[in-house]
Amino acid sequence: MSQAQPPAQRPSQRYDGLIDRYRDRLPVSDTTPIISLGEGNTPLIRLNNIPRVLGCSLDIYVKYEGLNPTGSFKDRGMTMAVTKAVEAGSKAVICASTGNTSASAAAYAARAGITAFVLIPDGKIAMGKLAQAMMYGATTLQIRGNFDDGMRLVKEVADHAPVTIVNSVNPFRLQGQKTAAFEIIEELGRAPDYHCLPVGNAGNITAHWIGYCESSASHGDNLTESCAFCEGNCKFVKGAVCSNRPKMVGYQASGSAPFIRGAMVDQPETVATAIRIGHPQSWDRAWKVMSESGGWFAEVTDTEILAAQRMLTMYEGIFCEPASAASLAGLINDIKAGKIPEGSSVVLTLTGNGMKDPDTAIAQCQSAQGDVEKARMLTIDANLDSVRSAILGFM
Ligand code: F0G
Repeated sequence: MSQAQPPAQRPSQRYDGLIDRYRDRLPVSDTTPIISLGEGNTPLIRLNNIPRVLGCSLDIYVKYEGLNPTGSFKDRGMTMAVTKAVEAGSKAVICASTGNTSASAAAYAARAGITAFVLIPDGKIAMGKLAQAMMYGATTLQIRGNFDDGMRLVKEVADHAPVTIVNSVNPFRLQGQKTAAFEIIEELGRAPDYHCLPVGNAGNITAHWIGYCESSASHGDNLTESCAFCEGNCKFVKGAVCSNRPKMVGYQASGSAPFIRGAMVDQPETVATAIRIGHPQSWDRAWKVMSESGGWFAEVTDTEILAAQRMLTMYEGIFCEPASAASLAGLINDIKAGKIPEGSSVVLTLTGNGMKDPDTAIAQCQSAQGDVEKARMLTIDANLDSVRSAILGFM
């Protein structure tokens, strides 16, 4: 008697992170031990209400990177950086951070069973990010200095201790982050006309440009001077999947805007603590991105950043952190200045989740901002009359 056959297996539809998804376009082999938390594959949400409020006819999408496993785009780079560190036998990683890199490094190190050391500016990181680094078990060194001081120290100590740097100076970080451009092209069927991002170290804007260049090229020679990974001979081009590339637009907070000043800034300040950076690590690369893409850098004030953050929540139901909202704040200015032609498609990267920084969110809801009224919150007695009159009072 023949035995019953098991039902035919369908190929797995399970999403298993961006290295698995794009392994033919990333520096991994079949034996690389992949450290993943299912990062990437984030939603590209079309803005329905804000274009109407702004009175413009642009096709605006936000790439909501705050839905990555630790709540920011850093996870795209960190899965690659920690995977390669583990493959090379490293037992510890280290980074300087304004908060999100430290959260991500701590999580991926925990996943890999290795140690994470993070240097953060004392008192200048959002509470959610500090909670993450501590919960994921990183050794957290709060320095009496800013991100730029931390970065200098991390580079120095890596020469004297067996630790792998997982800041974006680690070339595997940008390789992982380029996959955001792959996802956008897959969803739109082409690259957008403009891609706007907040800029701190300028790693992410560079990584996106690398992704767009790889996707639009038919062979890999001298693809873009902003990528140093394959020394001008890219191995990851698999034939053009789209024909266009966007203009890249980078926005910085006015108090932390070295790309606008044309020089490093020694005392950066902004409410958007994630991009409170005066000495960007990808300085030369980002200038290459601008000259190659025909894009530009511009600055936005803290007031504009907070107003844009509030617009995204109130009009679209999308909560990003202040730094991320710099992308919408800058776009609004550039629309007003006539720099973005009507009918264009625009992608804004929302780099981090709004829940990372509850203190700034609650503080800014205490007052009205432009057209947006202050948050409706009352403390009332626990009885029906009080609840009913509160509801009627707000109708
Ligand atoms: N947005 C957020 C939310 C960030 O956390 C960062 C950088 C950026 C934008 C800027 O990206 O540096 O590639 O230009 N955060 C780093 C950190 C510095 O330590 O978490 P970039």
